[in-house]
Amino acid sequence: MEVRLQKYLADAGIASRRKAEKLIADGKVSVNGKIIKELGRKVSSQDIIKYEGKVVKNNNKLIYIILNKPTGYISTVSDEKGRKTVMDLIDIKSRLYPVGRLDYNTSGLLILTNDGDLTYKLTHPKHEVEKKYLVTVSGEPDEESLDKLRIGANLGEYTTSSSRIKVLERGNGKTKLEVIIHEGKNRQVRKMFEYIGCDVIKLKRVSIGKIKIKGISQGKYRQLTKEEIRYLKKL
Ligand code: URA
Repeated sequence: MEVRLQKYLADAGIASRRKAEKLIADGKVSVNGKIIKELGRKVSSQDIIKYEGKVVKNNNKLIYIILNKPTGYISTVSDEKGRKTVMDLIDIKSRLYPVGRLDYNTSGLLILTNDGDLTYKLTHPKHEVEKKYLVTVSGEPDEESLDKLRIGANLGEYTTSSSRIKVLERGNGKTKLEVIIHEGKNRQVRKMFEYIGCDVIKLKRVSIGKIKIKGISQGKYRQLTKEEIRYLKKL
């Protein structure tokens, strides 16, 4: 079966279709030894496609994983400092990519896939899917401080949009909260609490939209169900 070169690259997990078009236009992709810059080119499994000189295999099997990430793992495919990555927890040969990131010290729900289009969609800033976190912070912030975060706060680098925050437990100089945000800016939850003078002691993502981490032990993963995949694609 023939498909457009950009779709071939997206299905192989190299990039979203849109980003793959740019890689092609930038002359980074070759077909049977020849750099191809036009976007109409169709390819099949008989062709040898290379991206930056490396063969891109596309077995067309799309894989979707939900991982309960422990702390102490970085959520990239490789790390120049030699730290453990989430790929060390996954026993699947295909090239998978984390959809967005969780910090080294954050645990919980991380989706990994080789579906470049879905990754693009879910990580695009215009996507307002709710992400729920359980957060333990130092101190006992009052409702007035939490309201600043609920409304949206100017953190310097960016202003957050509104969030939902519920106090679950207070006491012994610590507070446990449930925080729901729509964005996924770099270290957003940590920076939000720094803004009101609290350090994040523990941070765990428990859901993305209707997808929940419940039932998966730390460090373990499972394939997403057909319904979960359908749901994510429709978001
Ligand atoms: N917010 C953070 O600060 N860190 C994460 O890992 C996720 C959300």
